[in-house]
Amino acid sequence: MGDHLELLLGVVLVASPVFGISSCSFDHQTALYHFCNLTKVPQVPNTTKSLLLSFNYIRTITSMSFPFLEQLKLLELGSQFTPLTIDKDAFRNLPNLRILDLGKSQITFLHPDAFQGLPHLFELRLFYCGLSDAVLKDGYFRNLESLIRLDLSKNQILSLHFHPSFQELNSLKSIDFSLNQVSTVCESELKPLQGKMLSLFSLASNHLYSRDSVDWEKCMNPFRNMALETLDVSGNGWTVDITGNFSNAINGSQIFSLILTHHIMGSGFGFHNIKNPDQSTFAGLARSSVVHLDLSHGFIFSLNFQLFGTLKELKILNLAHNKINKIAKGAFYGLNSLQILNLSYNLLGELYNSNFNGLSKVTYVDLQKNHIGIIQDDTFRFLENLNTLDLRDNALKTIYFIPSIPNIFLGGNKLVTLPNISLRANFIQLSENRLENLATLYFLLQVPHLQILILNQNRFSSCSPGPAPAENLSLEQLFLGENMLQLAWQAGFCLDIFKGLFHLQVLYLNNNYLRSLPSGVFSDLTALRGLDLSSNRLTVLSPGDLPANLEVLDVSKNQLLYPDPSLFASLSAVDLRHNQFICECQLSTFISWLNQTNVTIFGSPADIYCMFHESFSRVPVFSVSMEGCDEEEALQSLKFSLFIFSTVMLTLFLMTIFIVTKCRRFCFLCYKRVQRLVFKDHPQGLESDMYKYDAYLCFSNKDFKWVQNALLKHLDTQYSDQNRLSLCFEERDFVPGENHITNIQDAIWSSRKIVCLVSRHFLQDGWCLEAFSYAQSRGVADLSSVLIMVVVGSLSQYQLMKHQSIRSFVQKQQYLRWPEDLQDVDWFLNKLSQQILKREKAKKMVNNIPLQTVTTIT
Ligand SMILES: *[C@@H]1O[C@H](CO)[C@@H](O)[C@H](O)[C@H]1NC(C)=O
Ligand SMILES: *[C@@H]1O[C@H](CO)[C@@H](O)[C@H](O)[C@H]1NC(C)=O
Ligand SMILES: *[C@@H]1O[C@H](CO)[C@@H](O)[C@H](O)[C@H]1NC(C)=O
Ligand SMILES: *[C@@H]1O[C@H](CO)[C@@H](O)[C@H](O)[C@H]1NC(C)=O
Ligand SMILES: *[C@@H]1O[C@H](CO)[C@@H](O)[C@H](O)[C@H]1NC(C)=O
Ligand SMILES: *[C@@H]1O[C@H](CO)[C@@H](O)[C@H](O)[C@H]1NC(C)=O
Ligand SMILES: *[C@@H]1O[C@H](CO)[C@@H](O)[C@H](O)[C@H]1NC(C)=O
Ligand SMILES: *[C@@H]1O[C@H](CO)[C@@H](O)[C@H](O)[C@H]1NC(C)=O
Ligand SMILES: *[C@@H]1O[C@H](CO)[C@@H](O)[C@H](O)[C@H]1NC(C)=O
Repeated sequence: MGDHLELLLGVVLVASPVFGISSCSFDHQTALYHFCNLTKVPQVPNTTKSLLLSFNYIRTITSMSFPFLEQLKLLELGSQFTPLTIDKDAFRNLPNLRILDLGKSQITFLHPDAFQGLPHLFELRLFYCGLSDAVLKDGYFRNLESLIRLDLSKNQILSLHFHPSFQELNSLKSIDFSLNQVSTVCESELKPLQGKMLSLFSLASNHLYSRDSVDWEKCMNPFRNMALETLDVSGNGWTVDITGNFSNAINGSQIFSLILTHHIMGSGFGFHNIKNPDQSTFAGLARSSVVHLDLSHGFIFSLNFQLFGTLKELKILNLAHNKINKIAKGAFYGLNSLQILNLSYNLLGELYNSNFNGLSKVTYVDLQKNHIGIIQDDTFRFLENLNTLDLRDNALKTIYFIPSIPNIFLGGNKLVTLPNISLRANFIQLSENRLENLATLYFLLQVPHLQILILNQNRFSSCSPGPAPAENLSLEQLFLGENMLQLAWQAGFCLDIFKGLFHLQVLYLNNNYLRSLPSGVFSDLTALRGLDLSSNRLTVLSPGDLPANLEVLDVSKNQLLYPDPSLFASLSAVDLRHNQFICECQLSTFISWLNQTNVTIFGSPADIYCMFHESFSRVPVFSVSMEGCDEEEALQSLKFSLFIFSTVMLTLFLMTIFIVTKCRRFCFLCYKRVQRLVFKDHPQGLESDMYKYDAYLCFSNKDFKWVQNALLKHLDTQYSDQNRLSLCFEERDFVPGENHITNIQDAIWSSRKIVCLVSRHFLQDGWCLEAFSYAQSRGVADLSSVLIMVVVGSLSQYQLMKHQSIRSFVQKQQYLRWPEDLQDVDWFLNKLSQQILKREKAKKMVNNIPLQTVTTIT
């Protein structure tokens, strides 16, 4: 993920050299004959510099095998499938040979003069050739005055009796005897190497000194008078005793780098029968100027007091991959020059203030891959030169002990929050922890001089207000991949986490579930050159979302539909693979941009494909034709006009609906006012007739309050001057003391209309029902409809029909319902007044009973 940004991080990829020729052929410099079934050396031009003949069936090399190849520098004859015989002066026609490789060929016969006549040979590879001690004893390498590297590893050499001619090989630097069977090496055998300074002498994996017991009195110092840059005695099964005896034996020989990995020193975990190294084990190396000691891959369980006390010049100590659980007090005393201490991959569980006492010069302490859960606060405080502390993959829950040092690795611990400690650092790595709250990020951004901050694979998802972002932050690289920023951002929090990062150059935000980028979130990132947004869920990038000077952008594995190419204007490279482009005409600008842009597009074109189109699913966008999209544009504009038109119509329609539903009362009142102004308050239809009242209001007295508020106040003249009707109702107009029936009859006959307000109470009130039937009978007598029935409340048809008089009315005539919506009340009352005022023409035709206005308002 985000590998492209590494270009910006300074990682330079080196292309491996590719031979321009196929196997079994040559050009004028190189002849390549791997796996060509050759049984003898092929004819090649005299200009050949490299002759590569591995993996063939060549059985014999004699002085006649090679033509004269003056230019040849490199000859590979290794890995022959058949045993190889090498005769006298076999390579004499190759006078300028530099490298001869016979590795992995089974050499059954090697003439003592086989390598003669190679004055410029500097590397001879004879590994895994089945060679025996004789190859050293019998002077095979004499006169190889340029020989620097001799690789004799993986042979069957049992002892190292060097032929005296080695004394003359003044260029010799490196001899590799690893993986042979050399069980002892003593002073007398290596005499020809005395006085030499070698860069590598490897005796690794030989069971050296461990198979047979050694009489060191006799054997003396094998490396007497020698200086070895690196002595490798790894994998020889050395115990504490062997190591101690060997160290004492090589008293005084210079060995700058002693590689003693894969040893068996130490008790391991849970055992006590095997010794851990102690003060005496390495004491014999006191005068050997050991600078680098590698004791990795062993079983050391405890680091004892003054274990390395005599190694005053030691700079690098590697104790990785042991079983170290205990560090004794003063274990590192004497390591006055130590700079790098590697204690990774051990079993340390806790660290104490005194553990690293004595390491006054140490700059790098590697403690990764232990089980450290707790560290005393002052453990690292007094390591004045400490530069880098690696505590990755431990079990830390807090970091109070972290000193102010430039480089801090804390990845793979159990940190949930960070304490408010004062910290300065250039580099902080905190990936793979459990950090949740972005307040931690605000805190880290305050760290002075911070340049690289690595926070990927945490759980950043919440945000509580942190300190305001500082003004001018030094941060250059910020890794926030594999968090959950979407959760914080979608809640609208922490949108300012990148504020003030004017120096930031590289930002990783991959795998954060991002659906969109909060606008302006990158606005301060004016120096940003690389941005990784891969593996999110972005569908759209808007202009202005990306920082202005961006050069490399990774938006692969998102859900971009049809990106606008102008977004990528500033870029030099972009990764657009595995999105979900929609291959419709909207994509045509993007496709033609892809076809001709100078911006480097990462990956294979097949990985930039279309989705969501029946016929185009997973079709590379490059192969999609956008022909016909221009016509479609014309159509598009027609479509656009249609769209505008229908939008307007729809809006009008919706407005009408809105007015009817929400503002009809207001409109009605306006209408009434206008009407009143026009007709100058000239009440219509108010000609006097023979009736005393305009209407008799018949209702249950339990409903009086409601009737007064809802009707009387708005209609009856006595309630307001605005009202025009004179109404009759029991509570006011009935003559007290008079028979109730008489009162009702009077009211009915002296009113033009009878309005019955049929409510639940009305139906339960016998007087009301009586009045209703009476009014109905007057209607029949008049041959006109004088009864107006208004149903109030939620009475069902069924409830009305239960009462005989009402039933007969309902069956013949329409009735009114009191409106449910308050807005409609004014309109209703107006309607009602009109009904009341309407004068019935005397109807002569019996059958033609006029209908009341049909009104059922819901
Ligand atoms: C080498 O011999 C094998 C077996 O005879 C054959 O399959 C192969 O093609 C040969 N290779 C060349 C390069 O001739
Ligand atoms: C290579 O061989 C050609 C003849 O085949 C000869 O003319 C030329 O001098 C030779 N070159 C060298 C460097 O030996
Ligand atoms: C180490 O040297 C001592 C004294 O020379 C000897 O007794 C002992 O056997 C030696 N140990 C090994 C493992 O060679
Ligand atoms: C190493 O050699 C020096 C002098 O050559 C001698 O003083 C010292 O005791 C020797 N050390 C050991 C451990 O043999
Ligand atoms: C320490 O050793 C481990 C394991 O071999 C290695 O990965 C790491 O790079 C070493 N640390 C240093 C600082 O060399
Ligand atoms: C952290 O500590 C510093 C000084 O010790 C103090 O100024 C700051 O307010 C503290 N921050 C928080 C968030 O507690
Ligand atoms: C920001 O800091 C840099 C040094 O890191 C300094 O050169 C620059 O002037 C500062 N800019 C502002 C606006 O403070
Ligand atoms: C890409 O450009 C070439 C000419 O530069 C043109 O022939 C080809 O049709 C174009 N392909 C697409 C998909 O636009
Ligand atoms: C691509 O680069 C060439 C030469 O560097 C330039 O002429 C051309 O205009 C560039 N094309 C675009 C689309 O930038």
